[in-house]
Amino acid sequence: MNTIKLNNGKLIPQLGLGVYQTPEGEATVNAVKWALEAGYRHIDAAKVYGNEAEVGKGMLESGVPREEIFLTTKLWNDDVRAGRAKEAFAESLKSLQTDYVDLYLIHWPVDGFEKAWSDLEELYEAGKIKAIGLSNFHKEHIERIEKIAHIKPAVNQVESHPYMNNQALIDLSKSYGMEVEVWSPLGGTGGNLLSDQTLQALATKYGKSPAQIVLRWDIQREVIVIPKSTHKERIEVNMDVFDFELTSEDMDIINQLDRGERVGPDPDNFDF
Ligand code: A2P
Repeated sequence: MNTIKLNNGKLIPQLGLGVYQTPEGEATVNAVKWALEAGYRHIDAAKVYGNEAEVGKGMLESGVPREEIFLTTKLWNDDVRAGRAKEAFAESLKSLQTDYVDLYLIHWPVDGFEKAWSDLEELYEAGKIKAIGLSNFHKEHIERIEKIAHIKPAVNQVESHPYMNNQALIDLSKSYGMEVEVWSPLGGTGGNLLSDQTLQALATKYGKSPAQIVLRWDIQREVIVIPKSTHKERIEVNMDVFDFELTSEDMDIINQLDRGERVGPDPDNFDF
């Protein structure tokens, strides 16, 4: 598994399992277990997904030692607004049945995020979080963090897939020293990205599936990618993207599929 070095020296596996919209209950326990059995060592969770307890259960039942797993979770908006980052973090740890997380993100740039950042810095200094970062932060939000931060954010996690590659925000985030994680890399649940004819043609050319073509494109454009699936075979094939390489012409062909089509909320205009 490829790793990327964060700005504090910590290594993150470049591909992980996302669990957004993986239902609470056995579906999440199994997805996490199957992923860890298949060799994943990176799980991307969030309090608002409602399945942290099952993520914790899956990690424990997998038998993979905790220290081998890179675990991310996220601080939810209500907790940011209420100024209760530390309490929410403690609740997440309890649900996840662990005593630290590898990466903790402010999920969305809602009112109170500067105070939340200061709280995350304290948790980081106390060793309870190995890296801290942002999610869905645009330029103006990043600049507000830059003004008050003693510790630079290690990542920004943003929507990105071939129909909305968000490359300008990725480049901007990197210019601030952050690595970028991409959510909805396969176009999200219920999307039509994977039936795109260009991606299908590339899949035929490389003897891979459209999902693998997209994930390989992410690996080669040096972002961290967290595909979600509840199916064992898909979880396995989504990780099988390290034995081939897209040519730079084919990378460009995928870059050109961009049509600014979001599948999730716009960080400049959301109501939750
Ligand atoms: P499922 O969970 O039923 O496997 P994203 O990561 O962009 O949020 O996309 C996740 C969506 O893509 C889910 O609907 C997931 O469905 C589906 N998916 C995940 N992996 C694959 C794959 N290898 N082939 C086809 N669909 C996939």
